[in-house]
Amino acid sequence: MRVVFLAPSYPPEMIEYSRGLAEVGAQVYGVGDTPREALPARVKPYLYDYLQVPRIMDEEDVMDRVTAWLKTRGIATVDRVLSNWEPLVILAARLRERWGMPGMSVDTVHGFRDKQLMKERVAAAGLRVPRSKRVRTEKETRAAAEEIGYPLVMKPIAGAGSADTHKVDDANALDDVLAQMRGVTEASCEEYVTGEEFTFDTVCIDGKPAYENVAQYLPKPLEMRTLEWVSPVIITVRDMQQPKLAKGIALGRKVLSALGMGDGFTHMEWFLTPKGEAVFGEIGCRPGGAHIVDQMNYTGDIDLFREWARVACHRRFEASTVRKYNAGIVFKRALGRGRITRIEGLGDFLREAGEWCVEEKLLRPGTPRRNWKHTLLSDGHVMVRHPEWDEAFRLSFLAATNIRMYAE
Ligand SMILES: Nc1ncnc2c1ncn2[C@@H]1O[C@H](COP(=O)(O)OP(=O)(O)OP(=O)(O)O)[C@@H](O)[C@H]1O
Ligand SMILES: [Mg+2]
Repeated sequence: MRVVFLAPSYPPEMIEYSRGLAEVGAQVYGVGDTPREALPARVKPYLYDYLQVPRIMDEEDVMDRVTAWLKTRGIATVDRVLSNWEPLVILAARLRERWGMPGMSVDTVHGFRDKQLMKERVAAAGLRVPRSKRVRTEKETRAAAEEIGYPLVMKPIAGAGSADTHKVDDANALDDVLAQMRGVTEASCEEYVTGEEFTFDTVCIDGKPAYENVAQYLPKPLEMRTLEWVSPVIITVRDMQQPKLAKGIALGRKVLSALGMGDGFTHMEWFLTPKGEAVFGEIGCRPGGAHIVDQMNYTGDIDLFREWARVACHRRFEASTVRKYNAGIVFKRALGRGRITRIEGLGDFLREAGEWCVEEKLLRPGTPRRNWKHTLLSDGHVMVRHPEWDEAFRLSFLAATNIRMYAE
């Protein structure tokens, strides 16, 4: 089986998907803008061949180059074109269409990429989405705001990482946000939904989940991304049968049908309102970032990198779906700017958590801080897991409050 896999080593977790593909017997034809010499040594054994392109985001150029490259290699057809990175899912679909291959169409993938279109399609299936409007000018935005009412949320149509996503409390605040969003050509203006926020993650075969996961954001991502002092916590939920989650899971499954999901990962976000209503947030036809796949793997002691590849290539899912743990990840942010100088409270935390701490990847003293606005990874993380939710929660928040990092 020949697989064209876009961006096989960036972001870094893509190396794991390359591994998965190789492990299920695929010949991986990697395409990326990383120079061949700069490919991480780890990924090399998994790549059957590699094409470096000058600009991976230049869809026309990449399509021409990949087509020509395969021709010089004497390859008439490949079996799959895959990407697990949000900015490249459309390109993968365009290549499939150009070569007349199976897999999700460009139009279907647009439904997972365009935040307004996805809400329209989900709403058309009778599902609850935030009221929203696509806006292109300040005038349109003000009109939409009047109609939708405050508080509301403004965000770019094709956003990721909560970049440029703003909660707007009143008309004065809207003026400020409009000024900050001058560079954005198209935005979604939507009703602000209060409540708790969760993920619904799947690995699907033909739109039917072979694997499902729910994780809770603590606090909700918008707050994680706006308050630097917060140590964001995300915990996978071991008990997916609990009544609290039933509406969200039912919503998630229906969203997959409404959008015409095919094979592969999905990552959805949804709200549970104080009244117990499940409201759609957004969805991508790719895995979540920020180590959520590692969290799912720790939840069930499985390897979803490989299982995704098995599904993508052979349409079979063979891992166990038994959930053994609630897995919590805690991202830390150092106090101060510059380089990490010291970490406090880590020893005590590790002694307290014992075997339940499964990963500790905090940046070490001397390392420059990461930009917490740009990446949820922030200054590193610890991962804990426990069969009981309350204990996973307690250990996660122990790390959140008692581990302190400093920089200068
Ligand atoms: N209508 C809404 N009501 C309440 N909160 C919202 C709404 N839309 C977005 N948010 C908040 O903003 C966050 C970011 O929005 P969204 O997920 O749409 O953007 P994103 O840029 O794709 O973010 P990410 O890549 O972090 O998922 C959400 O996770 C949620 O916390
Ligand atoms: Mg989101």
